[in-house]
Amino acid sequence: MEVIIQPNAEAVGRYAARVVTRVMRGRLAPVLGLATGTTPLPLYQELIRLHREEALDFGACSTFNLDEYVGLPARHPQSYRSFMQEHLLSRINVPPERVHIPDGMAEDIATACADYEEAIRKADGIDVQVLGIGTSGHIGFNEPTSSLRSRTRIKTLTDRTRRDNARFFGTEEDVPHHVITMGIGTILDSRRCLMLATGAGKAPAVAAMIEGPLTAMCPASALQMHPQVTVVLDEAAASALTHGSYYRWVYENKPAWQRD
Ligand code: GLP
Repeated sequence: MEVIIQPNAEAVGRYAARVVTRVMRGRLAPVLGLATGTTPLPLYQELIRLHREEALDFGACSTFNLDEYVGLPARHPQSYRSFMQEHLLSRINVPPERVHIPDGMAEDIATACADYEEAIRKADGIDVQVLGIGTSGHIGFNEPTSSLRSRTRIKTLTDRTRRDNARFFGTEEDVPHHVITMGIGTILDSRRCLMLATGAGKAPAVAAMIEGPLTAMCPASALQMHPQVTVVLDEAAASALTHGSYYRWVYENKPAWQRD
């Protein structure tokens, strides 16, 4: 894992945008894996700025989101489809027919999940998957004890995650219990993973992901098995790492041509 420590959340967003644009320049039809949550917002703001001010073109891109709540109609304000529309997709030029977000209202969820996997395969896989991390160590909505080889499927949220996400809904009771999420195996199939974490609340999960054992109790630790992961942290999220000075030295001494 490449660990990059930046001074604050805005710098994390700008660094992540450099990774995404570098991947986009290297592909004729880039496939972007997207995440929801507060963490990627500075990245999305920077991508929007690059689109508006520097003509960054998303016209050839496809996107696949990690997850969606089951039972929320697409236009529900807390659906991840609404979130993506509001914070990114309505402000850039990805063709709507190439935007993919799991359908939380599907009547046959198992078939919808299999179709989602098939759509990713048909698009020739995900070039870069943006990820955040839950305080439980989840990626997507793969909660602790998720199979490290899981594929897109329905999952039940833990109380901890429902509490964490209640801030968007008003009350905890309103947070759905079920979600559709790409599996850990699906995420690991991406050609590159771009994990972002900011704030002291994420520090224990970040340390477990990078320096802890590979374990289903911290699903993000599965990224240790991926050959190309870039983890971009602010100082607070990096504060529980025991090898912080090593990661900084490696980054500062990286040849210019290898930098994003
Ligand atoms: C949510 C999402 C994850 C996200 C995580 C952290 O539950 N399913 O994809 O990474 O929580 O969210 P935040 O960035 O708001 O802390």
